Amino acid sequence: MRADELRRTFVRFFEERGHTVVPSAGLIPTHPTAPLFTNSGMMQFVPYFLGEEAAPYARATSVQKCVRLSGKHNDISELGRTRRHLTFFEMLGNFSFGDYFKEQAIPLAWELSTEVVGFDGDRLWVTVHDDDDEAEAIWHESVGVPMERIQRLGAENFWEMGETGPCGPSSEIHLDCGPEWGEPGGPAHGGGDRYVEFWNLVFPQYYRHPDRSLSDLPRKGIDTGAGLERWQMLLDGTRSVFETDVLAALVDEAQAVTGRRLGTDEQTDVALRILADHARTMTFLVNDGVVPSNEDRGYVLRRVIRRAVRYAHRLGVERATTPALVTKVIDVMGDAYPELRRNGDFVGMVVEREEDRFRRTLASGSALLDEAIGELDGGTLPGEVAFKLHDTFGFPLEVTSEVAAERGVEVDVEGFEAAMAEQRRRGRAGRTPGSEAEGDDAYRELLDQFGTTDFLGYAEGETDGRVLAALPRPDGTLEVFLDRTPFYAESGGQVGDTGAITTPTGRLEVLDATYALPGLHRHVARVVDGEVVTGQEAHAAIDAHRRDYVKRNHTGTHLLHWALREVLGDHVHQQGSLVAPDHLRFDFSHYGQ
Ligand code: GLY
Repeated sequence: MRADELRRTFVRFFEERGHTVVPSAGLIPTHPTAPLFTNSGMMQFVPYFLGEEAAPYARATSVQKCVRLSGKHNDISELGRTRRHLTFFEMLGNFSFGDYFKEQAIPLAWELSTEVVGFDGDRLWVTVHDDDDEAEAIWHESVGVPMERIQRLGAENFWEMGETGPCGPSSEIHLDCGPEWGEPGGPAHGGGDRYVEFWNLVFPQYYRHPDRSLSDLPRKGIDTGAGLERWQMLLDGTRSVFETDVLAALVDEAQAVTGRRLGTDEQTDVALRILADHARTMTFLVNDGVVPSNEDRGYVLRRVIRRAVRYAHRLGVERATTPALVTKVIDVMGDAYPELRRNGDFVGMVVEREEDRFRRTLASGSALLDEAIGELDGGTLPGEVAFKLHDTFGFPLEVTSEVAAERGVEVDVEGFEAAMAEQRRRGRAGRTPGSEAEGDDAYRELLDQFGTTDFLGYAEGETDGRVLAALPRPDGTLEVFLDRTPFYAESGGQVGDTGAITTPTGRLEVLDATYALPGLHRHVARVVDGEVVTGQEAHAAIDAHRRDYVKRNHTGTHLLHWALREVLGDHVHQQGSLVAPDHLRFDFSHYGQ
């Protein structure tokens, strides 16, 4: 099945069942709790799960571009060595925001898998979380899956977006590809290449805090993720995702550029697959506004490009490799993602520059590395050598480690980190440390007792409500919590509202409004007059004049974004912003000064 056919079939199925079709979000997520890259379809919907914004639709479906290259979701070490892992892939999904839950999500997934796309129901296995009797009962009683093909799993059936954020138990559907692919025993005990997971139904109901604890989500829902390329592989019975239409075209291009053929030996096959995968990852990352650099996202991109160049170099390629691969990605994916065609020249230029830069030192760095490994006689490559390769020759540690591993040598990673830390320390002398984060048990209790704050500030500047708590802070101010509020809490770079809260006995000046926890508005306030007591009626009013200034600056960021794209080009993407009453800041990426 071709990728475009499967995208259409999936989305249409859910559209016919009342879901709004939502386009893929960019690979740079915008929510403050999000990890570095968009790693799943649910990420653009985080504000809805957290109750920070009202969902404009109760159910949605999408095809989301995803990158799994850092943090909790990172598939790079498996890449090219298994039949099913990729660092860039497309995720099909359906979502419910407080609408339906397990009782509908499970039968819908079964119907689409078996009746619409044609998976053989007798070869499907499902797993549910250890504690999820409910999901098991739905699979068995409503859908009819025999108990012997339902298994329970712990951590593997608990899905989390990242270190923080929405999470919950999940239930996965797997296809048994037969004994030639590995050990029997079902997905819980058998081989991962035999029982291939192709659809993860997540039941988000918790929020993961930075201290690892969990609290209930304001809005429960459904979040499912189905890897497009895996579905194609399983439906067509191919040996790996690299034989599906889009990736096969890219492997062909990798063969053309390198002059090497698949099937020559295992090392060549792995290298060609890595080139095909990385071609998409680099193209889409640059397209979405990441440029190579030495920090954060830019560094991850740099590693991807340099790793691809190194694999090509290992196959004996002495000339530029990545531009032709990028062109091919645009060629085969440009219909589904038309922005690739618009940005194509820019993407090609960024990638080519990065390859050029690395090629200038690749040969001398490789010689130094060969020499250092040659002198070792097995054992461990000193951290200082890895650091010099990084610092002087631009070899990411990952690349050095891979080359060393091919020669049976390990890298002294601790020594490398120590050399890096020392360099950073020298560069950073004089900075002051940040303040300690405060514990949040009291907030958790408020959420448990009263639920999330009713935010009315899109329509109203003033509301009447009740004081749920007024907690003193060490600096003499108060943190006030109301059942309903017109105060916008700082998020997405926009500052919180200021204003006043008045009760029958006192008056407060609100200095700031922030989220104490997702969905829980905290008013930081100073007592101007009298006192304010828990349980009192309260009148809350924002400084509407100041909010108008904030609104204008918010509009200003959109105008500035438009103007930057006019002047510098369509590659300019917002990376962050600060919207305050008296100024705005707009961060964006651009390759030049
Ligand atoms: N959010 C579901 C998944 O990524 O598997």
